[in-house]
Amino acid sequence: MSGKKRVLSGIRATGRLHLGNYLGAVKGMLSLQDNPDYETLYMIADLHTMTTPYDPEELRVNRREVVMDYLAAGLDPKRSIIFAQSDVPEHTELAFYFATVVSVARMQHLPTFKDKVKQYPKAVTMALLNYPILMAADILAYKAELVPVGVDQEPHLEIAREIARKMNQTYGTDFPEPQRFETSGGYVPSLVGEGKMSKSVSGSYITLTDDLSTIRKRLATVPTDSGKGEKVPEKGGVANLLVLVGLFMGEDRRRTCEAQYRSEGIRYQALKDELSEAIHRELEPFQRRRNLLTEDQPYVDRVLREGSEKARRIARETLDRVRGKVGLG
Ligand code: TRP
Repeated sequence: MSGKKRVLSGIRATGRLHLGNYLGAVKGMLSLQDNPDYETLYMIADLHTMTTPYDPEELRVNRREVVMDYLAAGLDPKRSIIFAQSDVPEHTELAFYFATVVSVARMQHLPTFKDKVKQYPKAVTMALLNYPILMAADILAYKAELVPVGVDQEPHLEIAREIARKMNQTYGTDFPEPQRFETSGGYVPSLVGEGKMSKSVSGSYITLTDDLSTIRKRLATVPTDSGKGEKVPEKGGVANLLVLVGLFMGEDRRRTCEAQYRSEGIRYQALKDELSEAIHRELEPFQRRRNLLTEDQPYVDRVLREGSEKARRIARETLDRVRGKVGLG
């Protein structure tokens, strides 16, 4: 063992990354990758995509799109193990052994499960019920201790810890209890008023591949007001616009805008133009790398192939031990 702490995170293969993913999650993943105290594994959770209704052709495309987005954003196969979940069959094997220590009732009562049942009442499958067990297997196949994910994933991590404890008690394995790793990435607000930038809220996001005119169009939809008043709004379109100004044009500029709001007023058209350019400038290096990758599919294939080979070596070792402990070895 290298003495490094292992980090694993998974990203569902649902589509292109947006600014919220980038600042909220990817930057945190990059900082862990660049920190020598950690060994990082980053996985495309393509099997998890199959737990709710999906289109096989879209999945085939999205797996690669997500990998290219991550590579262009700076994930580096020399420093992180980058792989697709379905290329490491040990995950599903381990999930089966884990299923022997989890009750059906426990899974049915999870808030994340109930949400999905509401969302897709006609597609309540065993795959969906098993979602958290597979996620626990993703993490514990590598005995990863740290999992950089959003707070919405906490119930799933709780399940992973329960499974680790139960496996250790029942079979004498030595799984660690993984913890969520809080990444300090910025909170990126939605373009349409309330909440955060989200793939599932149309009109709320800017994707990392948007060109300048698309960014302009998207910012044009942010609702604004007359531009001046005694108090700068704390919620809604103007507040969100100012958060974006802070993120992409600097906190000084944001304070200047706030002062303007309280005095002569903000001219939103000009501000939105400037902000569009600032965002586009930040995205340009990403887009250049992304274009190169699009033209080099063999490289993308090789990253996934080599990543899965490295991942499998670690996961196979865990699985061989577990097989012995559960009476199969
Ligand atoms: N459930 C996670 C999400 O929706 C994705 C995921 C799957 C994951 N397997 C994982 C995250 C393992 C961390 C570790 O965001």
